[in-house]
Amino acid sequence: MYNNIIRREKVIKNNPRKSIHGQWSSKLIFIFAATGSAVGLGNIWKFPWMTGENGGGAFVLIYIVSVLIIALPIMMAEVFIGRHGKQNPVASLKYLANESSSFNFIEVDKSLNRVRSKRQSYSNYDDYSNWQLVGWAGIIAGILILSFYSVIAGWTISYIFKAATGVFDAISLEQSQRLFNDFISDPEKLLAWHTMFMIFTCYIVAKGVRGGLEKAVKFFIPSLFFLLICLAIYSMTLPGFYDGISYMFIPDIAKIDSNVILSAMGMAFFSLSIGMGSLMIYGSYLSDKSSITEVTAIVAFADTFVAILAGIIIFPMVFTYNLDPSSAGPGLIFQTLPIAFGAMPGGSIIATLFFILLFFAAITSSISLIEPAISYMVEQYSLTRAKATFRMGFITWVLGLGTILSFNYLSEYKFLGMTFFNLLDNFTSKVMLPLGGLLMAVFVGFIVKRNIVEEELKLNTIIFNSWRLIIRFIAPIAVTLIFINGLI
Ligand code: TRP
Repeated sequence: MYNNIIRREKVIKNNPRKSIHGQWSSKLIFIFAATGSAVGLGNIWKFPWMTGENGGGAFVLIYIVSVLIIALPIMMAEVFIGRHGKQNPVASLKYLANESSSFNFIEVDKSLNRVRSKRQSYSNYDDYSNWQLVGWAGIIAGILILSFYSVIAGWTISYIFKAATGVFDAISLEQSQRLFNDFISDPEKLLAWHTMFMIFTCYIVAKGVRGGLEKAVKFFIPSLFFLLICLAIYSMTLPGFYDGISYMFIPDIAKIDSNVILSAMGMAFFSLSIGMGSLMIYGSYLSDKSSITEVTAIVAFADTFVAILAGIIIFPMVFTYNLDPSSAGPGLIFQTLPIAFGAMPGGSIIATLFFILLFFAAITSSISLIEPAISYMVEQYSLTRAKATFRMGFITWVLGLGTILSFNYLSEYKFLGMTFFNLLDNFTSKVMLPLGGLLMAVFVGFIVKRNIVEEELKLNTIIFNSWRLIIRFIAPIAVTLIFINGLI
């Protein structure tokens, strides 16, 4: 018994108060990195297409509400776990679970009721904590998401070259649709771009926190913001601007059903990168001095801003070219944007720039998808970063083949009415992420000792209590209800 306690105390003492992988050089860099993780294909590729598929304004409304009352509070909890644990997600969760129960021990030890209480707390002692399963599930979710994310990111690389060689010049809707459909029905091309994207991702990840991740985000995130704002201004000049904006911002309440709600909530998790450990691992590289509330609020705001901006760019185009917003699916931006680029002066340069930036937005997200797995392999099996990256990258690459084929040879093979890609996308966004987020909320709300959280978040009492109320009750209940409703 005592051995167990000693071992447990060791786990806690051994926790490096700084991650072995290094630390962000400043708070601003964390904000950039986390924004880099959050802003990606989710905002620019997935958000507009999901909005179209789920009825426009109603979806956007629920999306924004989900970000505010569910996703942002959970995001704080996730960053908290990482920053306090300072290790890979599995170890951080285990560490916190242990720490919270050993506080228990110290407390009961002091009490008069020594013998009985001690026996009670001994029985809870274990090096293993079930909560670490949340970390593993997250690692798996990250790999599953990256496997299709990389394929789509590959499309953006291909579109960089298409743009640069003037393929979009004065392109019509039919031509643009044909271009896209021909492209995705060619598995060899998709494979080549997917492979290239995985190589880029692995290269940056292998170089580590300071070497790779930071440099990538510092420059590209601000550039992407700038270009998106320019494109939004362009969209304002289109004849379909008014229709596009009304479609996005005037909710048609009749369109809200349980699937729309589940989709919007899943989208909020996906877009903010929460529920699987990306932000947990980024939090573990965050210095103890930075305020978690402040940085997460900034990241959530920036991410939502980009998604809305993407909608403001895309929907006026959709209405200008008489496309059906609800049926374009994952091809939406690849079919609409080229027409707009083809019609504007200097379009091929702007288009090239746009797809380059989209590619970088994707890569700053993809590195965060694989990072939890890498940090776990490095810490657990003492692998070098390079070896860990190679192994995980390879597994992801192989899984990506399923997504590639689901756009061509296997497009008719459906499971539960979904292709392999749809299945992966739906399963990760609508099941794994909300469930992961729910468990993190419950963990921080009920398992972790209140004073640990309080010390780490340094909020005033009223704000802290409201946040804790959300984390303990509102978010878990909302996620559970939405989840159950959506599945039925
Ligand atoms: N949020 C990113 C995007 O919008 C994708 C992403 C990165 C992600 N890390 C994640 C999604 C973790 C879910 C969980 O493109």
